[in-house]
Amino acid sequence: MTHTRVSGTGSYLPGEPISNADLIAGRALDSSDEWIVERTGIRQRHLAAPGVASSDLALEASRRALQAAGCEANDLDLIIVATSTPDFVFPSTATLLQHKLGNTNGAAAFDVQAVCSGFVYAMTIADKFIRSGSHKRALVVGAEVFSRILDWTDRGTCVLFGDGAGAVVLEAASEPGLLASAFHADGSHHGILSVPGQVCGGTVIGDPFLRMDGQAVFKFAVRVLAEVAHEVLDAAGMGADRVDWLIPHQANVRILQATAKKLHIPVEKCVITVAQHGNTSAASVPLALDEAVRDGRVSRGQHLLLEGVGGGFTWGATLLKF
Ligand code: UT7
Repeated sequence: MTHTRVSGTGSYLPGEPISNADLIAGRALDSSDEWIVERTGIRQRHLAAPGVASSDLALEASRRALQAAGCEANDLDLIIVATSTPDFVFPSTATLLQHKLGNTNGAAAFDVQAVCSGFVYAMTIADKFIRSGSHKRALVVGAEVFSRILDWTDRGTCVLFGDGAGAVVLEAASEPGLLASAFHADGSHHGILSVPGQVCGGTVIGDPFLRMDGQAVFKFAVRVLAEVAHEVLDAAGMGADRVDWLIPHQANVRILQATAKKLHIPVEKCVITVAQHGNTSAASVPLALDEAVRDGRVSRGQHLLLEGVGGGFTWGATLLKF
């Protein structure tokens, strides 16, 4: 039986970190470091320079993941990029990344649009391709330039997000690997987090900025992150006590703490990067994973529970033996 294992991780953050104080001063926001830290846990974020696109961030993260996996671009036969801030309407950011990486062997390449759940969705999709036997080695990337879709006059959203990318190489293996995954959506909640605009006839129709009902999103996130964690743990026949690291989507430290508490997982076992990165949407889970791998917290053989929740609404989880 074919299984899927993570053979390498990588990540990339653009430029120097921007502190809450510098962001507030630079954008003349009616906010404070105290409010942002107390309500969200965010202390800084990285913002891509003008002209730097999601595929550029994805490229750096992917090169690092490929190096960690000990393989080259042409060893890949599948490239999936999770993003809500693609370079273009089309072609996909995944095909642009494929070209920048120098993959010339005709690997399949496509984007996944599931907002902050995108990376977990993409992992789940790649796992199914690999376990089916159709593909052997996949690059799965979460990459975002959310700074491009923020309304910098809306203090309720613009302080929350950052730019970045994270990547993993997944490959066929004889031992598991990815133990269980689940992904879900409920489109009836589309209105609580969206960018409700479209390009039409050479202009933007509607609103091109991110809009969010923060409290509704908060409640929804805590509920489904706990539910889907139980779903994958049950599917793998594992108790939460066997999870070495909980690596959830990084939106708000209070959501992470509440989720860990609901799962009876000590918060010390939760990888928390939201303070340094802000909310990087589809990039947040692979960024957190790579950081914990590179600083030595995550090691081979450990059980990791990755989780995402975001606009749509979408949510999902992947339980894996690293
Ligand atoms: O990645 C997708 C998932 N996204 C999330 O998970 C985000 C989930 N939601 C949240 O993280 C929180 O709801 C927020 C951080 C967005 C907001 O925190 P909150 O504790 O729910 O605050 P609130 O929206 O109830 O606002 C409280 C007050 C309001 O003032 P009044 O009406 O009480 O006078 C806001 O106007 O805080 C005010 N406020 C701010 N004050 C200073 C909102 N944003 C700011 C700000 N600085 N940046």
